[in-house]
Amino acid sequence: MLGRSFWALSAIIPISLGINPLPDPCALIAGKRWVLPSEARRCLGSFPLSPEVKSNVLEVVNKTLAFHTSVNYQVQAPAPYDDDVHEDLIGDLNRIAATSYNSELDFHIDIYLSFKRVNDGHCGVYSRCYDSLYVTYIPTPLVLLTKEDGTQSVYIAPEAYEIAKEEFNDSLPWWEKRLPEASQGNLSSLAGRKVLLVNGEDPFVAVEANANITGGYQSRATRQNSFFSSYHRGAEGWEYYMGNFASLAHPLVDEVELTIEYPGETGNITFSLPYRSRFGSNSKDFTDSQSLRQNNCLATPKTNGVDLYDTPSSEIFAVLAEPPALAHFQQQPTLAPQDYRERHPVNVLLDSSPFSDISLPETLSPDIESLNSSYSVAEFFILDDGITGVLALGSFSAKNYTHFGRALLDGLKGLQEKGAERLIVDVTNNGGGYICIAHLIGPRATTEPQAGLDTTLRAGPLAQLIAKRVAEGHDPDNLLYYNPTQWNNATHQPIPMDDAWMRPQKLVINGREDAFSQRLGQECLPFNWEAPKHGLFDPQKTVIVSNGRLCVIVLSTRQITMSKEEGVRTVVVGGKRNVEQHYCGTVGGQSTGFSTIDTEIKSTKLKNHPLAPPDFLTNHVQGITWRLGYGIDNPNEPEEWQDHTADINFPLSKEIVNNPVAIWEAVTAAVLAHAQPALVVQF
Ligand SMILES: *[C@@H]1O[C@H](CO)[C@@H](O)[C@H](O)[C@H]1NC(C)=O
Ligand SMILES: *[C@@H]1O[C@H](CO)[C@@H](O)[C@H](O)[C@H]1NC(C)=O
Ligand SMILES: *[C@@H]1O[C@H](CO)[C@@H](O)[C@H](O)[C@H]1NC(C)=O
Ligand SMILES: *[C@@H]1O[C@H](CO)[C@@H](O)[C@H](O)[C@H]1NC(C)=O
Ligand SMILES: *[C@@H]1O[C@H](CO)[C@@H](O)[C@H](O)[C@H]1NC(C)=O
Ligand SMILES: *[C@@H]1O[C@H](CO)[C@@H](O)[C@H](O)[C@H]1NC(C)=O
Ligand SMILES: *[C@@H]1O[C@H](CO)[C@@H](O)[C@H](O)[C@H]1NC(C)=O
Ligand SMILES: *[C@@H]1O[C@H](CO)[C@@H](O)[C@H](O)[C@H]1NC(C)=O
Repeated sequence: MLGRSFWALSAIIPISLGINPLPDPCALIAGKRWVLPSEARRCLGSFPLSPEVKSNVLEVVNKTLAFHTSVNYQVQAPAPYDDDVHEDLIGDLNRIAATSYNSELDFHIDIYLSFKRVNDGHCGVYSRCYDSLYVTYIPTPLVLLTKEDGTQSVYIAPEAYEIAKEEFNDSLPWWEKRLPEASQGNLSSLAGRKVLLVNGEDPFVAVEANANITGGYQSRATRQNSFFSSYHRGAEGWEYYMGNFASLAHPLVDEVELTIEYPGETGNITFSLPYRSRFGSNSKDFTDSQSLRQNNCLATPKTNGVDLYDTPSSEIFAVLAEPPALAHFQQQPTLAPQDYRERHPVNVLLDSSPFSDISLPETLSPDIESLNSSYSVAEFFILDDGITGVLALGSFSAKNYTHFGRALLDGLKGLQEKGAERLIVDVTNNGGGYICIAHLIGPRATTEPQAGLDTTLRAGPLAQLIAKRVAEGHDPDNLLYYNPTQWNNATHQPIPMDDAWMRPQKLVINGREDAFSQRLGQECLPFNWEAPKHGLFDPQKTVIVSNGRLCVIVLSTRQITMSKEEGVRTVVVGGKRNVEQHYCGTVGGQSTGFSTIDTEIKSTKLKNHPLAPPDFLTNHVQGITWRLGYGIDNPNEPEEWQDHTADINFPLSKEIVNNPVAIWEAVTAAVLAHAQPALVVQF
């Protein structure tokens, strides 16, 4: 019935039985921590799609897209992303409207995958009812390793057993019983083995199939890298990213057949290993179908926006201080209430799995002392050579905004005081965060007056109307994003309150008429922090290390301004040989979601306008890019579509993979020790 692997699905196929068999398939798995994917699928696939839900989701999503800056660009992106981005989302929604589905799950998966195909981590439709309600795992994450002679192969991650022991201790015996005889039920004997075939084919067939559907990042290279495991600096410690092979947001894969190199009679063994689905750590308990839906699938008080001017003033603080519904899927740590309330602009990726909560094994985590100014997702180190400083930065958001900004500056100064002459910034799996934090580090000539990118808003008819209503006095407390007083114009001067402040400029994009606001300038300066007058590190002696899975303007702004204007080198680790790596996944500008837009609409009393999206009936989230950044090389076009090729594709070996300190030392030896912008280790 099903394709063997979700990552091998390229088109939607019927998943459910369509009828509700007795007994209740959800009651059968209620309260169990681990279930078979087929059991979870039978439960999730048992809900028929009601016409009300179908038309409601389509209407909200379609009307919210009018606020997403990139819809018309994404119909066909220009080179170099012409092969990567060519999705007509409005066309998809019309197709979906005309399709019948056996279940609500099938319907959701079709919308979900359609949005994934724009390969834009800011833009997506997610459901708390289906996405990561169960997370489906296999205890053999994969890595792509390169031997000294340059040959590359896929391997089971050397740390697979340690991860399973720590994270899946209550399921490891179940999996070990199902391992091939040769391994004697011992997962550790499979760790680090070369994978010859996946489902009988070259492993890169599965890598490419996943790159076709995983979404999030424009460049194919980055989507290839998403298949493999990696690491990331989290708010509480070092975390492990399982990769798309070993961790799935939907229970749509039952097993995988692996052929691995294994010394013995044949020199290799072939076996099937089952996936297993674990109840999501943020999913709400249920006892049967009805309570599953009640607790997980219906709109909550946070799903939709609120009219801030119909909220008692004593409650506004609380309303604004709550994490939005979107926060569950945002790839950044949870923020402090006061920072949600202050609404510092963010640019954050969304994904169907919450920000990682699996720890990097102790044997791989940095064991060198970190500087005392380290805070949350920012950790500072000096390598054993005494002259290489490292800033590991897993996000541009951390719980306390003010403290975070200060810690970053103190840490960089601290590195210098301790003798660091050169700098590695490791932003592996950094999902974005505060725009102004990203602009903060190492201000230099190029950061004045604009540390980041100018931006523009999409100026559709409803957006213009909101802006007009704000100017007419509907936002007396300055609470709304369409209030111009918080933005600067292209010459970085405040925009006066005026009902035509958006000054729409008409554009034709891919043959479709569109309109964007006047150009907006910088809004981060003056910083809340005392920033040094000069950059602390020589750009020629600075490298930015990642696996390409990051960005959002925040990061890219920093990376772009540093790499495009200042000679900082960008290193992507572990990419496929001969595939150009990109140091930035999706630029965006400022991201937001449906409920925030809905608050703007409700607060300006426009909810009854025909272009206003209705409220979601279901527990959905929709992410969009609200402001789009203009380019550095070509300042008249969005940076989104400009080239972000990394300088260096740095190979990983068994000795250094997923070991941050070992990677930093290897990069130092191969790249930083040669202060030329030469491509020392380019394949
Ligand atoms: C989406 O909106 C467009 C107008 O922007 C409209 O032509 C189309 O019919 C709508 N599609 C759906 C499925 O509502
Ligand atoms: C797994 O680890 C958790 C937390 O360390 C512990 O509470 C639990 O008892 C362990 N379960 C098994 C089966 O070892
Ligand atoms: C499992 O395999 C590892 C590595 O091959 C070996 O060191 C260990 O002794 C084995 N454990 C058992 C219980 O067989
Ligand atoms: C990926 O998508 C491309 C373009 O649609 C297709 O030609 C290719 O066969 C797909 N690859 C896999 C492995 O599914
Ligand atoms: C596995 O081993 C068999 C027997 O040695 C060999 O014929 C076959 O080519 C090997 N398969 C792969 C994918 O290497
Ligand atoms: C951190 O602070 C403690 C106590 O003040 C000090 O002993 C230690 O050397 C400091 N560590 C670093 C890396 O600066
Ligand atoms: C945030 O950090 C600043 C600076 O360290 C501090 O003054 C403030 O009290 C902190 N806020 C909270 C809520 O912890
Ligand atoms: C920005 O605003 C200032 C003050 O209103 C005005 O003088 C300037 O011309 C504006 N710049 C642009 C590019 O509109």
